Amino acid sequence: MSAAYEVRDGVAVITMNNPPVNGLGYDTRVGIAQGLERAQADAAVQAIVITGAGKAFSGGADIKEFTSVKSTMEPNLLTLIRQLEACTKPVVAAVHSVCMGGGLELALGCHYRVAAPGCAVALPEVKIGLIPGAGGTQRLPRVLGVETALNMIATGEPVKSELLAAQPGQKLFDRMAEGNVVDAAVALAREVAAVRPLPLVRHLKVTHPNPDGYIQFARNTVKAMSKNFPAPQRCVDAVELSLKEKFDVAMVKELEIFKGLMLTPECKALRHAFFAERAASKIPDVPEGTPVRTIAKVGVIGAGTMGGGISMNFLNAGVPVTMLEMKQDALDRGVATIRKNYESQVKRGKLKADKFEQRMALLSTTLAYDDLKDADLIIEAVFEEMGVKETVFRTLDEVAKPGAILASNTSTLDVNRIASFTKRPQDVVGMHFFSPANVMKLLEVVRGEKTAKDVLATVMAVAKKIRKTAVVSGVCDGFIGNRMIEQYSRQAGFLLDEGCTPQQVDKAIEKFGFAMGPFRMGDLAGNDIGWAIRKRRAVEYPDMKYSKTADLLCEKGRYGQKTQAGWYDYKPGKRDAIPNAEVEQMIADHRASIGIAPRKISDDEIVHRLVYSLVNEAAHILEEGIANKASDIDMVYLTGYGFPLHRGGPICYADTVGLYNVVQAMKGFAANPHDDQAFWQPAPLLARLAAEGKTFS
Ligand code: NAI
Repeated sequence: MSAAYEVRDGVAVITMNNPPVNGLGYDTRVGIAQGLERAQADAAVQAIVITGAGKAFSGGADIKEFTSVKSTMEPNLLTLIRQLEACTKPVVAAVHSVCMGGGLELALGCHYRVAAPGCAVALPEVKIGLIPGAGGTQRLPRVLGVETALNMIATGEPVKSELLAAQPGQKLFDRMAEGNVVDAAVALAREVAAVRPLPLVRHLKVTHPNPDGYIQFARNTVKAMSKNFPAPQRCVDAVELSLKEKFDVAMVKELEIFKGLMLTPECKALRHAFFAERAASKIPDVPEGTPVRTIAKVGVIGAGTMGGGISMNFLNAGVPVTMLEMKQDALDRGVATIRKNYESQVKRGKLKADKFEQRMALLSTTLAYDDLKDADLIIEAVFEEMGVKETVFRTLDEVAKPGAILASNTSTLDVNRIASFTKRPQDVVGMHFFSPANVMKLLEVVRGEKTAKDVLATVMAVAKKIRKTAVVSGVCDGFIGNRMIEQYSRQAGFLLDEGCTPQQVDKAIEKFGFAMGPFRMGDLAGNDIGWAIRKRRAVEYPDMKYSKTADLLCEKGRYGQKTQAGWYDYKPGKRDAIPNAEVEQMIADHRASIGIAPRKISDDEIVHRLVYSLVNEAAHILEEGIANKASDIDMVYLTGYGFPLHRGGPICYADTVGLYNVVQAMKGFAANPHDDQAFWQPAPLLARLAAEGKTFS
């Protein structure tokens, strides 16, 4: 049983013990239930305390048994809370560190609650597309008032216990512990041992001076903020019940809402993303507990767009960084950009002035490689040319200390070749950040043939420290993310050739939920970058078909936002994309020159051609072992490419549509004489899974 039991001076203390956060799995629930029975039956026990061992009171449902039958096996959480309420001896919850989800619902079922300061209190179910389903939406408004409770429930954000305890009229915490929280709870338990009747949260009244007006206001606000997700709005519905319905009726309705949400695709997508993120940090042949190297000093080579952003990640985490450049003015520009970024954060109130100074103090610059000889990790972010990378890595091999990790931020080049420029390929790895590197969550960790396991384990740990979502990719052209986006961009080009305008394509895919369509994205990243890649690929893959429109655009010097002209026009300092008639004419002329009569293409066709081009390449990537697992690919797309979260990533989306349907649609596209026939050849893995009626996951 995952709960310990002891009696201290007439008070039974039940301690949940299910590391890491005392998730309320089956064994823990049984442990609590048995503890309660034992305490009830023992005449020497006058009161009961429930607490959690280690680093949490309880983090809520046990994610290890999330979708298994065990999660609903009796006693389920609702049963357990009813058992708590029915105890004839007072039960005091001693909450500390983390009290979330089902853990908070459990505490709300107790007669009294004592909290340690600094405890993170939350009902985070909305973050996985749900509402609290064990009375949270009914009991929290009773102890904190409707407004505070609804804020917490609809955002899922944690609030510190001392802040909640300071709310006037709050009934969540009967006492804040000054010393040990369990001692304080035992003391309270003794004081209230004889109190009858015992107080129950369910008996408290919820009131509001203007309930209808407030709920309407909340509904409007939440609706505006949660457009693709149903759960936040259902949180409002559930909290409204606390104002209008009898407790038991509201509890039944809360459960109905919970069960209804559980079946929605959005909830499925959010849960998928939640697990995918946790799974991404696990590498099949690198066991947990693999020793990691100490990373106390970082060197960054190149102070350009990426080098500056990469450095900021480490400065933010308190790790000293030395940036190296070829010329002083490049260093000065790089430092000035970092300073400007921080200053804008200070102006917006996102960063305290003293923190800003602390971070800048951790930054040093140099023109001499010798100053990197103490660095534990050196990340190269110089021009994307193999010759330049070669010089840098040969030099690093001479100066870096033994055991230093040498990383490249290359977005397409062969990491194995880069490693071969050194006599220590085991220490070389790709760390592919995304622009802006201080903002974007994704870090593709590129594993070379010879990259050592402890180097991988270290880089994964570093990623966590600098708050990135790291996904491991094998070596191939473009790794996971850019290799897939290449097919998506090619398909976007074919859509122009067949009759679309850039804004029609962008609008369709943005309506599907992408943060940005392919043409706005091209303008943001710089169309010249894709142009350079296509020139290289024209040599390496001479048979690869592209629409010529992107090259024609670049020949006109329309590189995107940086030239205020790309697929769209831009006003100075603004990012609004303004359609341009000349570009549309250029596309139409090109279309005529290759003999295609334009046709009207539906939004559905646009979306499916773009998304399935991602899915098909993803299947190749999986089969080749470039990605370790399907969910890693979704993580890359959710955190690095603006794929709509409510759809769970390309793989999750394809599984939801059904792989048979995906393959059928691809066959239809292949019949289109203007599309590339080879493009729509289903990847063997996709074809096989579709034929067998299986999914990727
Ligand atoms: P950038 O042109 O803004 O910066 C490169 C910097 O490296 C320049 O400041 C240059 O002076 C410096 N540099 C060049 N050769 C050097 C050498 N031998 N020693 C020291 N410094 C040297 O380029 P950006 O965009 O920062 O790209 C850098 C790398 O990051 C490239 O490999 C690129 O493919 C990759 N990358 C770029 C992304 C982007 O969106 N810009 C995204 C992800 C990766």
